[in-house]
Parts: sequence; structure tokens; C-alpha cells
Amino acid sequence: MGETLLVTGGAGFIGSNFVRLVAGKRRVVVLDKLTYAGNLENLAGADHVFVKGDIAEPGDVRRAFDAAEGPVSVVHFAAETHVDRSIEDGFPFLRTNVLGTQVLLDVARERGALRFLHVSTDEVYGPLAPGVFAAEDARLCPTNPYSASKAGSDHLALAAHRTHGLPVIVTRGSNNYGPYQFPEKFVPLLIANARDGKPLPIYGDGLYERDWIHVTDHCEGILAALERGRPGEIYNLAGSCHRKNLDVARFILKALGKPESLLRHVQDRPGHDRRYGPDPAKAARELQWKPRAKFEQALAETIRWYDENGEWLDRVRSGEYMGYYERHYGDRLRSPAPPHTR
Ligand code: NAD
Ligand code: DAU
Repeated sequence: MGETLLVTGGAGFIGSNFVRLVAGKRRVVVLDKLTYAGNLENLAGADHVFVKGDIAEPGDVRRAFDAAEGPVSVVHFAAETHVDRSIEDGFPFLRTNVLGTQVLLDVARERGALRFLHVSTDEVYGPLAPGVFAAEDARLCPTNPYSASKAGSDHLALAAHRTHGLPVIVTRGSNNYGPYQFPEKFVPLLIANARDGKPLPIYGDGLYERDWIHVTDHCEGILAALERGRPGEIYNLAGSCHRKNLDVARFILKALGKPESLLRHVQDRPGHDRRYGPDPAKAARELQWKPRAKFEQALAETIRWYDENGEWLDRVRSGEYMGYYERHYGDRLRSPAPPHTR
């Protein structure tokens, strides 16, 4: 079975999909703090050992290493991940994404981890003009507290390789969609609202563009980077599937048989990045990886998954999430923005 994989943030969206991908083939220890975004239900049926703890607490990280048998490789997903929340309060982002990553790197070094796969994001490159694609050596230009904290953690991870020889590999994924995504993110939020016949909040003119990747493709890319990536290197994991937000929203409405009158242009996200465009050529060349999902087909399957798992959605949406929803969208949806302020 090889080494044990210590998966941080394994109860979140991408982490739990990754654990499902490798469970049964690898020994897995999950270290997760179970913040509002962590949900043990996401891991039901997947063989793993669970350690509840905070990556920013060295004692918690050491307990997770103790729970692993034999040699360990770290796959580091744990993070605060929602851009809008980072605009509301950047502190938890710095604590987990920056300090937490440093604590994890230090303990991984102390325990002689075989590999340290740091999961990062295409957001660190910042907004790109149409037709421009960012290779791994492009200038970093993060524009919000979330992406700035991720860029910081990328630098710390690569510094641990350069200064201490820790075998770090960094991946930068594009926008994920698929099952078990917390419904504060665009795709599951819109599916949930459309199911309920509620308005779909579209920031600004809705012509913002993202590169969408199915979560299984992303997880397979992370595994390929862990197994075949070169220490000290960065790999973009892009879906190479560019869509404008309004087109994604219209697709969701159509798939659920709901009217376009549910689209509601609301006040824009401050500093909203117009377009991301990671260049995936290096991952294709060096990892022999490329995404397999066809966007419209995989998005239709994703919509069906949320539709058929309404109870999961309801349970996740009760509690903390609804407090955030009212804080963030209450005024926006009660008084949608006039066109000139979008
Ligand atoms: P998520 O918000 O769904 O899950 C994050 C998980 O981390 C949760 O289980 C949470 O409980 C846990 N966590 C948070 N703080 C912690 C701490 N201090 N200690 C231990 N656990 C903690 O996130 P996601 O969307 O699955 O993203 C996972 C990773 O992938 C992140 O590093 C993110 O930056 C990166 N990423 C995400 C996307 C995307 O589209 N979602 C794209 C590219 C990269
Ligand atoms: O690019 C990778 C990143 O993708 C990850 O690193 C982040 O963790 C992840 O959250 C995601 O960031 P985005 O900001 O791109 O994702 P989000 O789902 O928040 O928004 C997607 C697009 O939809 C973006 O242009 C903002 C817009 N949007 C979002 C929300 C929540 C809306 O129009 N309305 C909304 O209510």
C-alpha cells in the first residue's frame, strides 16, 4: 500500500473527493479542524483514520503524524477558501493558510515526510487579459486576502524545499465543481437557490470568466503530481474549460427547468478578478495528466447529484451557513444594484 497519506482538510470539498479516490488503495489519515466547511458526512464509507485538529497547532499536527503507520506523505488541502469571506475578515485566512501551512511544513520536516504536496490555486496569478494564459513562472498578482494568503503559503512551501530540502510539490488548480461542494460557492449556491425557486445572485454584469475543472479530474492531477511530480516544482491543474458566469447560471436554470427571471444582478464583489487562465501544458507534459470531464455533461451530472442529495444540502445549509448568507446577501438581494453600479 506504500506510504500513509496524511490528508489535511480531508473533510472539505476537494479533500473528501481526494480521500474517496485513494481510500482502499492507500492508508489515509485525515487531519481536519471541522470548520463550517468541514463535514464528516462527506467521508462516509471511505476508509480512513480521522484526527480532529488544527494545522496551526503543532501538537495537533504531531498527533496526526503519530496516527499514521510508517512513512508519511502529506497532501495539504486545509485552508479557508471563500473569497467573499476573506473580504469580510482576512484574519482566519492568514492564520490557517499562512501560519498553518508553516506549522505543517515544520512538523513534516521534523518527521521526515517523504513528500509534501501543497494544494494551491490559479487565483495567485490574479486576473488575466483575454487570450493570456499563466504558466507556472508567471508573476504572482493576488488581489484579495484569500489569494494573497495562498500566494504566501506557496512561497513558504517552496522556501521549505529550497532552504531545508523538504520534497515539496505545489499544484495550482482552477475552479472546481462536483459533489460535496459547500453551497457558498457559485455552482452549488446557484443549484440550491434554483431548486428552491430563489433568486440567483450574479455579481456585477456576470461576464466574469473562470476555468472550470471537475473535482475528480483535479484530484487525479494532484495524485499524479504526488507520484510523478518533481520536488521544488509547480504544476497548474487547469480544466481548460472557460465559461462566463452568466452562461453557467443559465445552464443550471435550464437543467432544473427554472426561468431566467430568477437571475438577479447584485452588487459586485470588491476587486473581482475578471478572468483566470492557468496554462496546463507543464502538467500534461511532465505528469501525463489531462482532465477527462466534458463540462456540460459533468455539470449536468453535478446538478443531478445536488438535486438527488437535497438532504445533504439542507443539513449543510442550516446553521452557520445561513447566518453568513443573511449577512452577505440580505441587503444585496433586497435591493439589487442598478445597472451603473454593477
Ligand atoms: P473547503 O473550504 O471545502 O474545505 C476546507 C477544509 O479545510 C474543511 O474541511 C475545513 O474544516 C478544513 N480546515 C480549515 N481550516 C483548518 C485548519 N486550521 N486546520 C485543519 N483543517 C482546517 O475547501 P476546498 O474547496 O475543498 O479547497 C481545498 C484546497 O484546494 C484549498 O487549499 C484551496 O485553496 C484549494 N483550491 C480550491 C479550489 C476550488 O475551486 N474550490 C481550486 C483550487 C485550489
Ligand atoms: O480559481 C480557483 C478558486 O476558485 C479557488 O482557489 C477558491 O477557493 C474557490 O472559491 C474559487 O474562487 P472564485 O472566487 O472563483 O469562486 P466562487 O465560487 O466564489 O465564484 C465563482 C465566480 O462566480 C466568481 O466570478 C464570482 C461569481 N459569483 C460568486 C458567488 C458566490 C457570483 O456571481 N455570485 C455569487 O453569489
